[in-house]
Amino acid sequence: MNQPLLQVRNLKKYFDYKGKTLRAVDGVSLEVFPQETLGLVGESGCGKTALARAIMRLYEPSSGDILFKGESILKYRGKAIKALRHDMQYIFQDPYASLNPRMTAGEIIAEPLLIHNVLNPVGRQKRVQELLELVGLRPEYRSRFPHEFSGGQRQRIGIARSLALNPRFIVCDEPIAALDVSIQAQIINLLKYLQDEMGLTYLFISHDLAMVKYLSTRVAVMYLGHLMELAPSEALYKTPLHPYTEGLLSAIPIPDPTIEKKRTRVLLSGEVPSPINPPKGCVFCTRCPKVQPLCHQKRPQLQEITPGHQVACHFPNIQ
Ligand SMILES: Nc1ncnc2c1ncn2[C@@H]1O[C@H](COP(=O)(O)OP(=O)(O)OP(=O)(O)O)[C@@H](O)[C@H]1O
Ligand SMILES: [Mg+2]
Repeated sequence: MNQPLLQVRNLKKYFDYKGKTLRAVDGVSLEVFPQETLGLVGESGCGKTALARAIMRLYEPSSGDILFKGESILKYRGKAIKALRHDMQYIFQDPYASLNPRMTAGEIIAEPLLIHNVLNPVGRQKRVQELLELVGLRPEYRSRFPHEFSGGQRQRIGIARSLALNPRFIVCDEPIAALDVSIQAQIINLLKYLQDEMGLTYLFISHDLAMVKYLSTRVAVMYLGHLMELAPSEALYKTPLHPYTEGLLSAIPIPDPTIEKKRTRVLLSGEVPSPINPPKGCVFCTRCPKVQPLCHQKRPQLQEITPGHQVACHFPNIQ
């Protein structure tokens, strides 16, 4: 069996919020294998970014462990965290806010090389050329400023920058959410191309389940700081076991009107509870259409139902 590149063990990230504890990530365990894409989905505020930032050591986790290439990275400090950036990078959601407006595209892309003291000035110039080409931008664009580019082009610059140090693992946090629909597919295709070309491993965060399906090897579904379900992509979309996953899938329109008419919709009603005061028992119990008394009392653990298909539910949909 393939060794995981990343292992997250019972990870918690709590924030202090007005003197109260906000449980953004509340005991998440998952693995990411080399060259796969693990999709991470869930409604806004469920803790996807907090989890990703904790994995990247951009947030200090409250407890749990993170292993990269088999080694715990939680004990890393200063220089060791900096060195981790050679292996792990982050692509941000907003290609407008994440690029420094006063730097040229070339300077933006070269910056990680400069910070990490990689290559001499001539070598860096050459590397910038290569990276621009790799992400489908013309070499002469290096001297332009961010405002001279379209949203899609800016995201390409952000991607080129994240590739500069030749990382193995990239967190893509809603990398297309801020882009026009017409541009989204191009960026997704670019990410897929780069993965094949460079053997990259992705954690791909999105609330768009349709997009995640196209890109992901496996998908993890998160709700209120917890993982609800984790499965190979095909199994998750074909036979979702958790009522929450069913609800999320129901929200995706199916282009075929006959199928669309026939299918049963599981509607997600009500508000997501606050992570400051999450429900006792299953965190989804206040919105679950299949809720039973047990669900209010006992928190279900993530358990494997069929090979590779895990679900945290007392009453999963097993046919
Ligand atoms: N720095 C912070 N301080 C306090 N609370 C925070 C902080 N960052 C995030 N949170 C809270 O943690 C919870 C999870 O937030 P997070 O940004 O991880 O959600 P998300 O799943 O990424 O949502 P979205 O889809 O909107 O990006 C939210 O309740 C949020 O308000
Ligand atoms: Mg987020």
